[in-house]
Amino acid sequence: MTNAPGGSGGPVAPGQPIAPGQIDTVMHESRLFPPPAEFAAKARIGSMAAYRAMYDEAKADPAAFWGKLAGELHWFEPYKDVLRWKEPFAEWFAGGKTNASYNCLDAHANTPRWNKTALIWEGEPGDERRLTYAELHREVCKFANVLKNLGVGQGDVVSIYMPMTPELAIAMLACARIGAVHSVIFAGFSAEAIADRNHDASAKLQITADGSWRRGKQLPLKDTVDEALAKSPTVRKCVVLKRTGANVNMTAGRDYWWHELMDNASPDCPATPLDSETPLYILYTSGSTGKPKGIKHTTAGYNLYVKKTFEWVFDHRDEDIFWCTADIGWVTGHSYVVYGPLSAGATVLMYEGAPNFPDESRFWQLIEKYRVTIFYTAPTAIRAFIKWGDHHVDKHDLSSLRLLGTVGEGINPEAWMWYHRKIGREKCPIVDTWWQTETGGIMMTPLPGAIPTKPGSCTKPLPGILPAIVTPSGREVPQGQGGWLVMTHPWPGMLRGIWGDDARFKEQYWSKVPGKYLAGDNARCDADGYYWIMGRIDDVLNVSGHRLSTIEIESALVSHPAVAEAAAVGRPDEIKGDAVAVFVVLKQGEPGDALKKELQNHVRHEIGALAVPDDVRFTGALPKTRSGKIMRRLLKDIASGKAETGDTTTLEDFSVLAKLRGDEE
Ligand code: WTA
Repeated sequence: MTNAPGGSGGPVAPGQPIAPGQIDTVMHESRLFPPPAEFAAKARIGSMAAYRAMYDEAKADPAAFWGKLAGELHWFEPYKDVLRWKEPFAEWFAGGKTNASYNCLDAHANTPRWNKTALIWEGEPGDERRLTYAELHREVCKFANVLKNLGVGQGDVVSIYMPMTPELAIAMLACARIGAVHSVIFAGFSAEAIADRNHDASAKLQITADGSWRRGKQLPLKDTVDEALAKSPTVRKCVVLKRTGANVNMTAGRDYWWHELMDNASPDCPATPLDSETPLYILYTSGSTGKPKGIKHTTAGYNLYVKKTFEWVFDHRDEDIFWCTADIGWVTGHSYVVYGPLSAGATVLMYEGAPNFPDESRFWQLIEKYRVTIFYTAPTAIRAFIKWGDHHVDKHDLSSLRLLGTVGEGINPEAWMWYHRKIGREKCPIVDTWWQTETGGIMMTPLPGAIPTKPGSCTKPLPGILPAIVTPSGREVPQGQGGWLVMTHPWPGMLRGIWGDDARFKEQYWSKVPGKYLAGDNARCDADGYYWIMGRIDDVLNVSGHRLSTIEIESALVSHPAVAEAAAVGRPDEIKGDAVAVFVVLKQGEPGDALKKELQNHVRHEIGALAVPDDVRFTGALPKTRSGKIMRRLLKDIASGKAETGDTTTLEDFSVLAKLRGDEE
């Protein structure tokens, strides 16, 4: 991190209280990376002027803007209105009929894409498969018939608990084809979590596999499902994919082998014309707090939004090999492994296993082997790569890469710089994409041929997206100040509700700032109109009357050469309000008092006395959700000496918590 003043205002003066809802900024980042000229010359949106023109057009009349793009979907029947908006309920393209499975598959028939590779798949043990659009279409049609034969119809919920295999995408697209609603549950969740979700959604059918490969071991998915189904009375039948060949229990009359059902299925299954607002899927999320909620996405608006954002943000071209490392169990996988890329006719790489199997160079080996051109991953993975060491990267030829992306958390500027230099060879733009399960697709990000990047900033909103930063009373904060991030206008990819809980939907997203969608994140916008996400609203630290964001303190720590990653939380303190407690994972150096002092001095030097950590705890790992987000809520409890409370079903590794409590410091 550099200390030259950026466009973000001066450092905060201690003792000066600020208005409620505002958050101080203490971070200064002035590095600016324009899109490489060669990249911009070929890009779909190749200049700031082109971006501005699109943005202004969309802002002036969002409905007209989206209406113009909607022609890119296939319509069995034309829609009547682009947007019907009765806050908080939106209908996009009401009156029309389309089908997401059709848009991902059939739409490519009679085009050169039909025999192009849609999916390249590599299993963790190294097995490899490729499916063209024509082949994928055939599999999806057959499985859609399997679903029908098992009694699944329009509106039925299908629960999917599967490894990262082509069949997972096939199952989703088969549901979409007949108007069934899929609920994909990440294949690392417990039986309890599956049963809860099955119950909440009244799921009718379960799809799973005998097992899955993870770091060379078999995960017994079917055993977990057996336990879950004992507590899922609405689920009557279960389809089981043979993946590992493990011995599993098959309950007669309930459980069926995927391959046996497919052997007898007809490949003829036309896509059902579905109303635009037909539910497409439910995806449970708890973020890092609270009871999981079933986020509901519907057909036409979502489909259009993920197609267009995929094309714009990843600047997709037909010759690209696109690799999004997210598991399909998360929204990133739904939108940018399945629906976005396939509607755009892309070739997608899918990998089943862990990044460190058989060793820490697996991802780089995959990029080299398949000549991946676009690589989209999470900051938590990037921090792990940094910790594992550059020698794993250096062994491989990454020259095929032309574009890099990140999603899921803020990226610390020093991790951004490593990604830029080491993986991007200073040639690839980086798209830091801010969005949420609820938003359906990417909302704010640099368009790679148009918008110069600043490490740590997701830069600007996409066309059609109208953000603002406000106080709890809904007033816009002064430029440069942090506050609550809201959206002031509906967009096609937005969630349509929480499954079965309209009251919670209204309360959580639409009531705190009347008339606006509340994202739940803090952000600020600098003098260049660049957005900086400052972390979740609930995670703000209140130090001596100043509200500080977690990411800024963490980024200061990560800019120290000894630190691989860091989490900052508040610990109640009688004098300061919150004392600053930080948990630090080292990549080098010895934990101890000397390093603690050094890190405190480093933060003082980087951002000022106000943010200097009172507690520094060294730990081997941070508690994370299974999608890789740091669970600050749990760390807060540990920092303040409380036993952890609340929902921990998304926690990746309980042993991390036990360790944090046990060998604190
Ligand atoms: C955080 C993932 C900073 C944010 C697609 C958001 C980010 C939550 C970024 C949604 C980013 C995601 N910079 N923070 N580029 N991307 N977040 O639902 O707090 O798993 O609200 O969706 O992740 O997480 P979710």
